[in-house]
Amino acid sequence: MIETLDITGWHDAIDGATRDRAVHALERGAVLFFPRLRFDLGNDEVRFLDPAVSNGKAKNISLNPATGKLQATSLAGADAAALGAMIECFGASATKLVEELLPYRHVERARTSFRPVEVEGRHYSKTSDDRLLHVDAFPSRPMQKGRRILRFFCNVAPLDYGRRGERHWLVGQDFENFAQAFLPRAKTHTPGKSWLWEKLGVTHGRRSRYDEMMLSLHDAAKLDDAFQKNCPKTALDFPPGSCWLVYTDQVLHAALGGAFALEQTFHLDLAQMVEPARSPFHILERLSGKTLA
Ligand SMILES: [Fe+2]
Repeated sequence: MIETLDITGWHDAIDGATRDRAVHALERGAVLFFPRLRFDLGNDEVRFLDPAVSNGKAKNISLNPATGKLQATSLAGADAAALGAMIECFGASATKLVEELLPYRHVERARTSFRPVEVEGRHYSKTSDDRLLHVDAFPSRPMQKGRRILRFFCNVAPLDYGRRGERHWLVGQDFENFAQAFLPRAKTHTPGKSWLWEKLGVTHGRRSRYDEMMLSLHDAAKLDDAFQKNCPKTALDFPPGSCWLVYTDQVLHAALGGAFALEQTFHLDLAQMVEPARSPFHILERLSGKTLA
């Protein structure tokens, strides 16, 4: 469920045994936990630990590393540039660490996000409420042939916040058991709709049968109150000054509370995995008996 790695520096060389342990645990659906990996903010950056730096519309402030564009912040001018630089520094550090830690040839760095707003006490529709257990599947970003979603999180709340600064997660049962239970509720594949949504620019690329299945599983899990209440789950508390890395398309997770996290999303082709058979794509193909892309 959780594999602890005692890495303390963003640029540390990592030995072969640790790399092996990391990739095997990760691909088997563990959360890799780095209890002593701190991301230190500069003196001038501590001011960004304030919900007011968000424009209040999106859950997160996000940075597109390809364009440098920052979204959903209330800041402008030099302040926005300084916040963007902080998020970029974290994203670059997380990328370097992931490249050193995992044996994959190419990991694509996607968006970097900053989460300055307390998770608890916000209001969402059920399907967009990440306090409910779910696997990640993004409506506008198809993963087509089962590209993986790997995410690196860092709790950047001040160390002296102690327990008050913890980020609380739940993680659920393994993907295969979950998929077995929910697959009968997956919606039917609609190639015409996928084609149209791509044409209209609703999706970046065309949704495959895999994407539709994953979106169905995501929504069905969040909408099932009995499942949310009764399914086996484990609480994980991530203290200030710690990081964690997880395949969020595979591990059922819910973020219950906590503020001030930074997050870097990565994508990679599943053929790069050491054990591709453990990917949601191959598990769903096997369970459904269908070709998914
Ligand atoms: Fe999620």
